[in-house]
Amino acid sequence: MSKELLPAVKEQLSLEYAVYQPKKDGDYVNNLIDILSNDLDFHRKNSSYASHNFHSFPAKFPPQLPLQFIKDLTEPNDVVLDPMMGSGTTVLEAYLTGRRGIGFDIDPLAIMISKVKTTPLKQEELIRHYQEILKNAKNLVNQETKKLEQILLNRWDSKTKQFIDYWFAQEIQLELLALVLQISRIEDVDIRTFFELAFSAIIITKSGGVSLALDLAHTRPHKAKVVFSTNGRILFGEELDESEFPRLKILTKKLRSPIEEFEKRCIQNIEGLVNRNSRSIRPEINFGNAQKLPLEDKSVDLIVTSPPYASNAIDYMRAHKFPLVWFGYQIDELSLKRKEYIGGEVMTNIDYEKLPDFTSTVVADISRLDSKRGKVLHRYYSEMTRTLREMYRVLKYGKAAIVVVGNSVMRGKDTETQNCLVDIGRNIGFEVPKIGVRKLDRNKRMLPAGIETNTNSQIQQRMHEEYVIGFYKPEN
Ligand SMILES: C[S@@+](CC[C@H](N)C(=O)[O-])C[C@H]1O[C@@H](n2cnc3c(N)ncnc32)[C@H](O)[C@@H]1O
Repeated sequence: MSKELLPAVKEQLSLEYAVYQPKKDGDYVNNLIDILSNDLDFHRKNSSYASHNFHSFPAKFPPQLPLQFIKDLTEPNDVVLDPMMGSGTTVLEAYLTGRRGIGFDIDPLAIMISKVKTTPLKQEELIRHYQEILKNAKNLVNQETKKLEQILLNRWDSKTKQFIDYWFAQEIQLELLALVLQISRIEDVDIRTFFELAFSAIIITKSGGVSLALDLAHTRPHKAKVVFSTNGRILFGEELDESEFPRLKILTKKLRSPIEEFEKRCIQNIEGLVNRNSRSIRPEINFGNAQKLPLEDKSVDLIVTSPPYASNAIDYMRAHKFPLVWFGYQIDELSLKRKEYIGGEVMTNIDYEKLPDFTSTVVADISRLDSKRGKVLHRYYSEMTRTLREMYRVLKYGKAAIVVVGNSVMRGKDTETQNCLVDIGRNIGFEVPKIGVRKLDRNKRMLPAGIETNTNSQIQQRMHEEYVIGFYKPEN
C-alpha cells in the first residue's frame, strides 16, 4: 500500500463516515456534474482494502467509484441501492460509510460474495472453526478415502458428475469434498457462508485455481493440455510434454492442494473482515431481478450500479458453476438460471419493448448485418428499459442513478450502449446532465474474453473505456 493512500484507507476502516457529509455548496446537479468531470479512473488507488478482495469477480468496479458518489451525494442513513450488485462493491461502500445499502442480483455466487463481504464476524471464532475444518478434512482424506470416493459417486446426477470429472482431477475432488463436508457441518449460517466463499475463491481464480481450467476469472475456461499432480507426477498430456509448441507452457498446469489453498485464503479473508460500530447498518442483500424490484416507489436516495455487457460478453454462470456444483447445485438447474441474466442470448419467450428512435436505429443497423444479433441487442435494450424504469420508480425525486457501462461490438459495429441507455433513460423521464468516461486499468478490471486484441482501431480503443452515466430524476 503506498504511503499517500494510507489516510483515506484508514478513515474507511475506522468507519469515520461522519467526515463524508454531502457538500453543502452548490446544488445537487452541479455536484453530480463535478464528480462526473473528475478523474474516474482510480488506477493507482488501492482497491483491496476491507473485504473487497474476498473473491474475484469479472467487471467489478473500483470501490472508489461508488464511494465518490456516496460520500458527495448522500448522508449517513440514506438508502443506497445496487440492483445488479455483482460482488457487492457498492453495498460494501454503503456499509463502510454508514449508509443503508440494498443489493440485488440473480446470481447465487454474487449474493454469497456480497453477504460475506458485509458480515462482521469475530476473528477468534473463525480461526477456531477453520482449524477444525483443516484438521478434520486432512483426516478424512488420509484415513477415509474409500468413504469419500463412495460419496463422490452418488452426490450428483450423471450430467453434473461428468462436469466434475472433466474439470477436477480425482485427487483434487477428494480434498474438495472433504472440505465441503466439514464446512457444511457448521450450524451458524454466517460462519458457514464465510467458509463457503473461501472455498469458492480457491476455484475461481485467474489461473483456474484448483480445477483443470486455465482461466476462470475471465469466464472462458479452457482445459489445461498438460497437467501435473500436486506431487509433480504427470496426470495427462505426457505426449505433449516434450513438444516445442511455444504456447504449451501457458497450457500447462501444476495442481495445488485445495486444503493448502483454502488455508491461505481463510487467513487472507479473516484479516480483511469488516468491523462493525454502533452506527453501521447491515445492508439488505437479496436474490432479485433488477427488472422488477421489490421496493417501494420513491424509497431510494442513490443508485450506483453496472449492468452486464450487451450480448452476454461475460457469461457469469460459465465460471460460477465450478464452485456452485460443490454446494449441491446440479448443472441443469444452473444452466436454466442463465436465461434470466440481462444480456443473455436465449431468444425464446422474450418480451420486446418498443425502443426510442436513436436506439431503434442502432438495433436496425445491426439487424441488417445479422438478424440474430439484432434480436439479441433488442433483447438487451428491452431488459435495460425495464431496469431503468424500475430505477426511476424507486428513486426519490431530485436524486441520481449512476450507471457504469462498457461497450460491445457486434458484427464489427459498436452497440453504442452508453448513447442508447441515455436515449432510453430520457424517454423514461430521467435527465442526463453528464456522462463521465473512465479508462479501464488493463491490469485490474477483467474485460470480457475476446475484447483484448492487438488492433488499434477506434472501436478497440473504446472497448478500453467505460461510461459513467449520471441519470437524474428531476424534482416533481
Ligand atoms: C457487471 S456485474 C456487476 C459488478 C459490480 N459492480 C461489482 O463491482 O462487483 C453485473 C451483474 O448483473 C447481474 N445481473 C444480470 N442480470 C440480472 C438481473 N436480471 N437482475 C439482477 N442482476 C442481474 C449479474 O449476475 C452480475 O452480477
